[in-house]
Amino acid sequence: MLLEVQGLTSHYGRIQALKGVDLAIAEGELVALVGANGAGKTTLLRTLSGVQPATGGSIAYAGCDITRLVPHRRVRLGIAQVPEGRQVFGPMSVEDNLRLGAFTGSRQTVEADLEAQYTRFPILKERRAQAAGTLSGGQQQMLAIARALMARPKLLLLDEPSMGLAPLITQQILAAVRSFRDDGMTVFLVEQNAFAALTIADRGYVMETGRIVLHGPARDLLADDDVKRAYLGV
Ligand SMILES: Nc1ncnc2c1ncn2[C@@H]1O[C@H](COP(=O)(O)OP(=O)(O)OP(=O)(O)O)[C@@H](O)[C@H]1O
Ligand SMILES: [Mg+2]
Repeated sequence: MLLEVQGLTSHYGRIQALKGVDLAIAEGELVALVGANGAGKTTLLRTLSGVQPATGGSIAYAGCDITRLVPHRRVRLGIAQVPEGRQVFGPMSVEDNLRLGAFTGSRQTVEADLEAQYTRFPILKERRAQAAGTLSGGQQQMLAIARALMARPKLLLLDEPSMGLAPLITQQILAAVRSFRDDGMTVFLVEQNAFAALTIADRGYVMETGRIVLHGPARDLLADDDVKRAYLGV
């Protein structure tokens, strides 16, 4: 397993947001995490990337215990997160935002990685000199994802990449996410749009109030009556 999480807990003061989360993700898998508002999905991703402290349990990555590792060391190990709400640096150009993502690597690899992202997202090349804050929502999401990819992650953590986007743009973003997995990357995808996420995922986890309540192959979850009723609106 590339990622193995056991009994993970996390708190905001006295509020316990994660109540003992267990999950495992194999290398090369695309795994979706779905759940209602406030279930703890963002908290779980932030605890995996290290920006939110774990109060108990353990996180193993590639066989190493990273539970107490600071965030930038996790990035170095290959864990990159695209945070909820995009959070690009608005006044900076598209290209400078991308360069910020590449805080490791030689000049040559940075230039090559930049070109790779421009090939993946041609609109970003067109807008390379434009201030990131003036991009559309969908373009900002592409930029946030491309910036994370500049760190050459093995494990990509995505928090609601389709939030606030039109259906067509959502399809484009999720097709890109699927292509990362097809390229061999491991992806953990949080989505409010459970149907879309489970449609592209290999496996899924369902979270309710700080706990995993269900997991399995994505196609089984799509066919599950409880999942349908609670998350798929059918
Ligand atoms: N900074 C904070 N301070 C206090 N409580 C917080 C904080 N951030 C989150 N919480 C609480 O932790 C719980 C989990 O929140 P979290 O943001 O992880 O949920 P989520 O599943 O990502 O929800 P959403 O689908 O709305 O993004 C919620 O009850 C929330 O109110
Ligand atoms: Mg969230």
